[in-house]
Amino acid sequence: MKKKILRIKNLKSKKKLVCLTAYSKPITKILDKHCDIILVGDSVATAFYGMMNTRSISLQTIINHSIAVSKGINKSAFVVDMPIGTYKNFKQAKKNIKQVLKQTHCDAIKLESNGRNFNIIKKLVKSGIPVMGHIGFTPQYKKKFRPQGLKMKDEIKLINESKKIAEAGAFSIVLECIAAKTARKITNLINIPTIGIGSSKFCDGQILVTDDLIGLSGFYPKFVKKYLNLNNILEKTFVKFKKDVLKQKFPAKKNSY
Ligand code: KIV
Repeated sequence: MKKKILRIKNLKSKKKLVCLTAYSKPITKILDKHCDIILVGDSVATAFYGMMNTRSISLQTIINHSIAVSKGINKSAFVVDMPIGTYKNFKQAKKNIKQVLKQTHCDAIKLESNGRNFNIIKKLVKSGIPVMGHIGFTPQYKKKFRPQGLKMKDEIKLINESKKIAEAGAFSIVLECIAAKTARKITNLINIPTIGIGSSKFCDGQILVTDDLIGLSGFYPKFVKKYLNLNNILEKTFVKFKKDVLKQKFPAKKNSY
């Protein structure tokens, strides 16, 4: 197993894992100093391209953003999300992942669980591909948002799903919008790090979509803490530029040849 991936696995219960998404080189360069994992998520569809959901993003678009991210990454583990429809069976998954690995040099890929693809994960891991799992509210397969694992029946289902993914050999697993009590049980029951998004502090690490936490995406559900209002800062900046252009204050002599 790659050194960076082994490090993540070994950090379970020792240190909280810091994880964020990136879609471009400049942001990645900053994140790389502070993150354990950087993910090129299929959230690029909604956060960057303004699509309605994550289901229409193409593999080539994910690869293009991953190539950009690869140019800014050095120390963090680099994970690439596989879009829906690119891992329907082992043969197709392996072919598409090989393309991702070849073009992006990422350390691992992430697959959303549909409750049936454990064998695909197992075969991928067996063939040497590090896999991150993803359970709970999985946007590729669940259309209507609702927190997961609130009822006992759902909790049992999620616990079993997480166990099967860990047994299949995944090195970590994202828990998305899972009730705190369930996330806590899963984290205690499986031997790989759980990375929470909207799943409470009882996870081994946390991930957010960077564009949400910097206040750029316009998507601020309860589980997002907005650390910055970048939208506001940009708005003020562009108003200043507009004024300067209109009043012919820009470009000044020092900006001219
Ligand atoms: O696509 C993404 O950004 C993700 C994170 C929300 C975990 O899958």
